[in-house]
Amino acid sequence: MLLSGKTAIISGAASKRGIGLATARRFAAEGARVAILDIDAAAAAEAAASLGEGHIGLGCNVADKTSCNDAVAQVARRFGVIDILINNAGITQPVKLLDITPEDWERIQDVNLKGVLFLSQAVIPHMRARKTGSIACMSSVSAQRGGGIFGGPHYSAAKAGVLGLAKAMAREFGPDGIRVNCVTPGLIGTDITAGKLTDEMKAKILEGIPLNRLGTADDVAGIYTFLASDLSAYVTGAVIDVNGGMLIH
Ligand SMILES: NC(=O)c1ccc[n+]([C@@H]2O[C@H](COP(=O)([O-])OP(=O)(O)OC[C@H]3O[C@@H](n4cnc5c(N)ncnc54)[C@H](O)[C@@H]3O)[C@@H](O)[C@H]2O)c1
Repeated sequence: MLLSGKTAIISGAASKRGIGLATARRFAAEGARVAILDIDAAAAAEAAASLGEGHIGLGCNVADKTSCNDAVAQVARRFGVIDILINNAGITQPVKLLDITPEDWERIQDVNLKGVLFLSQAVIPHMRARKTGSIACMSSVSAQRGGGIFGGPHYSAAKAGVLGLAKAMAREFGPDGIRVNCVTPGLIGTDITAGKLTDEMKAKILEGIPLNRLGTADDVAGIYTFLASDLSAYVTGAVIDVNGGMLIH
């Protein structure tokens, strides 16, 4: 097992068809104890219970620093140590540039980008104390190609911000034994598009994907598992595409 004896925090892992829960399942199968942190506390508890004994699910709004600190403190009390952090929580909105309101901008930056900062700030001291840790952050192909798939320009901007933030964290905390990497998925079949993706849109998108299918949550869970495990012991500041060839660069 790749994560035997390790402990992991995964944010945004309560939604049933989501990337976070698929990752939690994979981590548990690889021997990790998992803490699911999600804005939906009841769903987080239910998701953790579905993994079996020893996992925990807590309410946490990643866009709120106090909420992150409180949740991480609870995990540290329960697990003792924190080996892995997956900054996965995110929201999107399909909207054109001229229609973005100040509130839209704040909301999208807060969850997708500020959330990575706050949760990492809460977890890193625990990792630094033991001189070991792996952090993986969720970006998107939208950051690399300027959107155009589903999320608006504010989503592209937030996910591009994640790339810069994660690389800076990799540089700062490498000497402390903490690795920080990003994943950049293409279009993955989850509920984030909330039924707004029509068959016509899907068909058009498929024309641009050499592997000729949308991604699955498990496709991304596999990459998070690689980044969390010692298989990637010498990988930091990297960005791993999981996009079926939608963007080859
Ligand atoms: N599905 C895709 O095509 C795709 C592509 C690239 C990147 N992503 C990113 O992958 C991540 C997971 O998305 P998904 O597709 O599994 O979507 P999802 O909607 O199924 O999951 C998102 C989860 O984040 C939680 N969440 C939302 N706001 C939160 C907050 N403030 N604090 C804590 N939790 C919060 C939700 O409750 C949900 O459980 C997101 O960051 C998303 O932007 C998704």
